[in-house]
Amino acid sequence: MHYTARAHTNIALLKYWGKVDEALITPTTTSISLTLDEFYTDTTVWFDKSLQSDQLILDGETISGSAAQKVSRFLDVVREMADINDKAYVVSNNHVPTAAGLASSASAFAALAGAASKAAGLNLSVTELSRLARHGSGSATRSIFGGFAKWVPGDDRTSFATPIFEKVDWPIQLLTVVINDQPKKIGSRLGMQHAKNTAPFYDMWVRLANSQVNDMILAIQQHDIVKLGELAEANALQMHAMNTTSVPSFNYLTDKSWQVIMIAQELREQGIPAYATMDAGPNVKLISRPEDTFIIKKELANIVTSSQIIIASPGPGIKVTSGDKI
Ligand code: PMV
Repeated sequence: MHYTARAHTNIALLKYWGKVDEALITPTTTSISLTLDEFYTDTTVWFDKSLQSDQLILDGETISGSAAQKVSRFLDVVREMADINDKAYVVSNNHVPTAAGLASSASAFAALAGAASKAAGLNLSVTELSRLARHGSGSATRSIFGGFAKWVPGDDRTSFATPIFEKVDWPIQLLTVVINDQPKKIGSRLGMQHAKNTAPFYDMWVRLANSQVNDMILAIQQHDIVKLGELAEANALQMHAMNTTSVPSFNYLTDKSWQVIMIAQELREQGIPAYATMDAGPNVKLISRPEDTFIIKKELANIVTSSQIIIASPGPGIKVTSGDKI
């Protein structure tokens, strides 16, 4: 039986940046995210007795190598849960600029968890799906849910995401400035591992990030974009500053990234709430209000072209259907 899932990516307002257990992908901090409507992955899975090995077709191309192995390892987890041995076809279409710091792994592994578990005959709750998605990629844990979600540390059983507010009925958007859409040089897995192992300020970052959780939830509950944005920008800048203290040092941000971060500051001086957040890449996402889009674009016009700006609103949780279309 074919099953197809659509999962949307998410942006972390408080970042996950380091694992307690590398194999189980359990995090050192609680992270909080907003799922986005614009970026998503559609994945169809079916198991086939006649297959010798799993087949991955990503955006129309048959994939081999480490990406295919990662998917096979994830399917092994599903096979073990469902007590089956059959290999699977995985046909995935990404509507996220892959590996450009826009967390395509979040929507990819959330969609794979949804489609593969159903195709294997499992009927998982959203909590179980979130836990399963975590085995593919940390950020995927949160992409099971729409709106704002929280993912907590714990062990294999207790580390999963829960929704804070799935329906977001107040004006908040994410304006992404695509500075570089090529795959990043240092992937998030290596980056966070290196920071945790070598950055002298890593423990401090963990304490700081965990201390921001309650205030972030309060800001979300109160629809307070200023408080939410201040916390998100501080958390992101703290993470990126901490990365530069790793030995040897590494850094995802470029001169262009900093120009956009400074524009957010200038906008705030004019009374426009715009706050920067950045993941494992140079792209800057501005947490902002839809009504300010025109003025923000105007301020950015000297640095980037309009085609480098993508606007996303809060998005929905995972959807799984039988067949090969959503
Ligand atoms: O789940 P991964 O391995 O793609 O790591 C995500 C890391 C960040 O995007 C930087 C932060 C986050 O919480 O999404």
